[in-house]
Amino acid sequence: EGSRGSAAVAQDLKNSRETQKERQGKLDLNPPRGTRDFYPEDMRTRSWLFELWRQVARDHAFEEYDAPVLESEDLFVRKAGEEVTEQLYNFEDKGGRRVALRPEMTPSLARMVMAKRNGLVMPVKWFSFPQCWRYERMTRGRRREHYQWNMDVWGVSGVEAEAELLSAITTFFKRVGLTAEDVGIKVSSRGVLAEVLAALDVPDAKFSATCVLVDKLEKLPLEAIQGDLTALGLEESVVRRLLDVVQSRDFPSLETAIGAKSTALAQLRQLFEYARAYNFEEWLVLDASVVRGLAYYTGIVFEAFDRKGELRAICGGGRYDKLLETFGGEALPAVGFGFGDAVIMELLESKGLVPSLSLGLDALVFAMEAGLQGIAIRAATSLRAAGLTVDLQLEARKTKWALKHADRLGATYVVIVGPEEVAGCNVRVKEMATGQQHVVAIANLESWISATFTT
Ligand code: HAM
Repeated sequence: EGSRGSAAVAQDLKNSRETQKERQGKLDLNPPRGTRDFYPEDMRTRSWLFELWRQVARDHAFEEYDAPVLESEDLFVRKAGEEVTEQLYNFEDKGGRRVALRPEMTPSLARMVMAKRNGLVMPVKWFSFPQCWRYERMTRGRRREHYQWNMDVWGVSGVEAEAELLSAITTFFKRVGLTAEDVGIKVSSRGVLAEVLAALDVPDAKFSATCVLVDKLEKLPLEAIQGDLTALGLEESVVRRLLDVVQSRDFPSLETAIGAKSTALAQLRQLFEYARAYNFEEWLVLDASVVRGLAYYTGIVFEAFDRKGELRAICGGGRYDKLLETFGGEALPAVGFGFGDAVIMELLESKGLVPSLSLGLDALVFAMEAGLQGIAIRAATSLRAAGLTVDLQLEARKTKWALKHADRLGATYVVIVGPEEVAGCNVRVKEMATGQQHVVAIANLESWISATFTT
């Protein structure tokens, strides 16, 4: 800098002030591309959805947990060519550590289970609502952040765990008013692919990467991933055999494709039998083409879809018995699912299944004069103590304005603290629905209003 003149430095300073000013003048009011703001009305809907999910999880005796949205990058580095790892929001923090915003919850959950493994009572049945970050190409139903309902079971190796998770998913669908005609859940097993690969002497080490490729094969033309196939050393005959097997859409054809002795087939049959006992069999569709794009799945995989075929996958999950091994631990059976908030809301809205949610305001309390605010405060405080939702008017307004405001907010009652009433130790209570007015003793206000809510 020493060689530059002071005029140049002054000019730089001026420029930087100008751009700063310009930037301030033109603040972009949109959140970063692919992310959302949640204004109160959006938040109400989100809370409604989360509460339904939470209730279903609790009804199945799952416990809620959480983890940081920022994790060590290592946790997500996998070398199977998955989309999620390519879409990672990763950077170096100020301490020079490689970190990432989580694209999914499963690795964090695995880390938590691994850390406390000996102290945990199995099976672990946990749920959460992580916000997940993926640098996606933006398409319908795909954003750069989304919330994801996760439920996972650790320590159970049988399909009893899968069945319980599918019960939670279908219970949610039913509660929210969807039917098996609206939504289906495609079910398959990577065990089928594992058996085929074993029969063709393809080494175990290639299993994950092969599954990720087969998942892509179902979505992209063969030529598009020919390079990946060659790199993996999968011969054409193997690819053809895999593609043949994933065509199966029912038990007889799957049996023909892999043989009656297949363990994967037996597990799928068992799962469908349990589904009958739970009474959600009509939601399930056997479909061997479901492989899923994540590397860590080892067994049963599933994906919910809208039967009209207009939307992206509603949710997805599966068994991942070897994830802890890839973290250098001892394997522990695990199965779970992730259920995004985006596609389901689109589906529910299109079917008119999202209720109009109000603030749930029981009363608005307002003082007609500044000198009466203390009494209004006391009235609001006692009503709140009785468990009611009460809005207290915070600035001087005309009665007319307060009544209109109460109407906008959907309040059941307006408590008017006026000089005449207060002189007689009373307040006036207006019932918004009927317009009826009552003069109520201040001392009885809480019991008077509470009684109308309990009867
Ligand atoms: P996933 O299939 O990558 O699985 O994501 C699960 C669900 O999250 C999807 O079906 C979709 O509902 C939602 N989702 C994913 N990416 C986006 C996006 N960019 N925008 C909106 N929604 C999205 C997993 O993440 C696994 N960790 C699930 C799991 C849990 N498997 C076992 N346990």
